[in-house]
Amino acid sequence: MSEREVIVPLRVLPAPRDSFSRPMRDLRISVMDRCNFRCPYCMAREIYHDRYRFLGSHERLSFDEIVRLTRLFAQLGVRKLRLTGGEPLLRANLPDLVGDLTEIPGIEDVALTTNGVLLGRYASELKAAGLQRVTVSLDSLDARVFARMSGGFAGVEEVLEGIEHARRAELTPIKVNTVVQRGLNDHTVLELVERFRGTGIVVRFIEYMDVGNRNHWSEAAVVPAKELLTRISARWPLEPREPSYRGEVARRYAFADGQGEVGFITSVSQPFCGDCTRARLSSDGVLYTCLFATHGKSLRDALRGGASDDQLLELIRAVWLGRADRYSEQRASLRGALGDERKVEMFYIGG
Ligand code: GTP
Ligand code: 5AD
Ligand code: SF4
Ligand code: SF4
Repeated sequence: MSEREVIVPLRVLPAPRDSFSRPMRDLRISVMDRCNFRCPYCMAREIYHDRYRFLGSHERLSFDEIVRLTRLFAQLGVRKLRLTGGEPLLRANLPDLVGDLTEIPGIEDVALTTNGVLLGRYASELKAAGLQRVTVSLDSLDARVFARMSGGFAGVEEVLEGIEHARRAELTPIKVNTVVQRGLNDHTVLELVERFRGTGIVVRFIEYMDVGNRNHWSEAAVVPAKELLTRISARWPLEPREPSYRGEVARRYAFADGQGEVGFITSVSQPFCGDCTRARLSSDGVLYTCLFATHGKSLRDALRGGASDDQLLELIRAVWLGRADRYSEQRASLRGALGDERKVEMFYIGG
């Protein structure tokens, strides 16, 4: 038998379940802590200025390291990958990584979250490498509101062009993520719905969350999904839809006239921790089991310290078995109780 004909079977390991019996199904990989935007709710300009010390390239996981770890995650049950940042398209040669990740046995879905402005340059390359779909962040179509919420480094038109490039490259279904903040962009929500209705692009409105420690979050700035649902359905009647898969974060609603759907991500008003199967890997290789985590486990240190695959598998398994996160369900009691403990920041962990 020639070497090429040797089939290496996919190792079947008992999939770990955490302390609430949740399996590990999704891995969100942040490939870059930098961003070309400065959304105040994520990377306020006053803090993330020219002299801010982002990770050095040797501190970030290399592509080989990411692929090696992802293979191990797949052996433990991960089926879905999402590449995030900061802005993932700032990472040089990202399509090479996508190509390697899509070939990992067990991985069924690879998606990317981006602010969209670099899609013109990379959409077709990403598609050719095997990326299935993209989700683009866009908080408003109003130029002034958009500038305020993104830091003023690009215009709405650039994001819309990026979406158009993704559409032409068939990086579909495309989703648009809109963070809603009271008094900032809540008056521009209907305009967004109108723009994308009937295009096949699904807009999802995200309740503003208290991620990290630096965005001056207050509950008063959260617009509960129910309120938006009432406003949108008064103009275009909506009907609830079943989730497209177990544990889907967005609640889906279809337009009664058949013009597609919108979604609501209700982390504050109706938390969804019960079905949370997401693990997160920061760009410097720390494994976190919650978006609101204060601590993680460095897989990079283990990996660079010479750990074998079996040792890494054991490490990841142990982290998942010990997982008891449900921050959004406990928000009210946990917020005050964290004391000096710092939560991870969104740009570092990738949303
Ligand atoms: P699909 O596979 O397209 O369903 O992706 P998704 O909706 O799971 O991922 P996406 O990154 O588009 O999620 C949208 C937003 O929902 C994120 O940017 C976060 O703001 C929020 N979100 C996603 N996962 C979680 C989570 O586990 N906990 C909380 N609190 N918010 C989350
Ligand atoms: N609350 C809700 N969503 C947020 N995002 C970033 N910070 C927050 C926050 N505090 C969103 C971004 C992007 C995705 C990665 O997460 O707008 O759509
Ligand atoms: Fe960049 Fe996204 Fe954070 Fe805005 S929300 S600063 S686009 S990572
Ligand atoms: Fe999962 Fe943590 Fe979000 Fe709850 S708050 S859904 S446990 S990431």
